[in-house]
Amino acid sequence: MSEQLSKGLEGVLVAESSLSDIDGDAGQLIYRGYDIEDLAREASYEEVLHLLWYGELPTEQQLAEFSDSMAADRAVSGGVLDTLADLAEADETPMAALRTGVSLLSAAEPEPDKDVEDADATRREGRRIVAKIPTILAAYDRLRRGEEPIEPREDLSYAGNFLYMLTGEEPGGVAEETFDMALILHADHGLNASTFTAMVIASTQADLYSAVTGGIGALSGPLHGGANQDVMEVLQEVDGSSKDPLQWVKDRIDAGGRIPGWGHRVYNVKDPRAKILQSKLADLSEETGESKWLDYTSTIEEYLTGEMELPAKGIAPNVDYYSGSVYYNLGIPIDMYTPIFAMSRSGGWVAHVLEYWQDNRLIRPRGRYVGPKPRPFVPVDER
Ligand SMILES: CC(C)(COP(=O)(O)OP(=O)(O)OC[C@H]1O[C@@H](n2cnc3c(N)ncnc32)[C@H](O)[C@@H]1OP(=O)(O)O)[C@@H](O)C(=O)NCCC(=O)NCCS
Repeated sequence: MSEQLSKGLEGVLVAESSLSDIDGDAGQLIYRGYDIEDLAREASYEEVLHLLWYGELPTEQQLAEFSDSMAADRAVSGGVLDTLADLAEADETPMAALRTGVSLLSAAEPEPDKDVEDADATRREGRRIVAKIPTILAAYDRLRRGEEPIEPREDLSYAGNFLYMLTGEEPGGVAEETFDMALILHADHGLNASTFTAMVIASTQADLYSAVTGGIGALSGPLHGGANQDVMEVLQEVDGSSKDPLQWVKDRIDAGGRIPGWGHRVYNVKDPRAKILQSKLADLSEETGESKWLDYTSTIEEYLTGEMELPAKGIAPNVDYYSGSVYYNLGIPIDMYTPIFAMSRSGGWVAHVLEYWQDNRLIRPRGRYVGPKPRPFVPVDER
């Protein structure tokens, strides 16, 4: 009897986790029991990280201690900045610069030989990595524009400090709040490809730097984190051409292409994160008086969920469909969108590794061999 093969591991259960749960039919996402809508509206990214890493939302005092210790870990070494300058010179993408930068951080790790089962040590290491990612990204963006990196500030929130290091200006309340919300929405999402990559690496008991670096690589692809940039590029293409957005969509589907920001392996209905970002985009559009991105996205959505028959059922907007327009309104460069996703998701990668290491088992599936049957070797001069 032939064994069942599950291409892409679709629907395969590989681990138990108490971190996040997705109801793909109801369009619901929870982190440790809390609805994402409540967290996005009420909490901060630091609170959500505490929830994911320690299992509970922090008290006021715990939050202050956690946020302060994270803020104190934000600076990166001059060596890291020098390498980033070299990468900027070579015109690397921000995602590639982040991958290299995180890998480089391990050189300064003060507890390199920690035990993987030591959860507190993993949390400290995770804090150092997650705290430094915004510094790497903001520095890289400035270096490639020929500007000096701005040192992190400890008195700003995780979200506010990143926007400050990027622009040199303290962000307004709405920008900081919106960005913080986007970070919360992207922090965790079950065993997606990048989280699973991080877990596979960690399951060999390789270090956390390797796991996060691998997660960044997996997230960079257009089928995963890269889609948010694709969405904005498409919207710009529509904006720059005389083509009606609906005609653009129709042509794309007729040519057998995919609509970026649509479809999901787990959701069969609209992603709840997309709904939250859509309403945030509406607020931002009202505030800035620039509504064209909201108009394009909403018009395309109405068309694709109404009149136009998509080639497959259950294809709906995912988180990337609206995040791009939100970041655009915040003045963030388009090729920073996926790195920002990595910034947020790094907290989820650390949480999953932390959890998995408490009961580690090497992840090692099998493939079905379909190559030639055993055959005699022929020496090179007789072939
Ligand atoms: C996310 C994604 C990879 C999930 O894919 P999946 O579960 O492997 O689904 P499949 O690739 O098997 O697609 C199933 C069907 O839906 C169609 N489909 C999936 N996403 C589509 C999209 N964005 N636009 C148009 N059709 C789509 C496929 O063509 C396929 O149709 P078929 O059965 O007629 O061949 C896929 O939806 C996609 O490529 N989306 C665009 C990229 C994106 O937004 N990624 C970010 C995800 S958060």
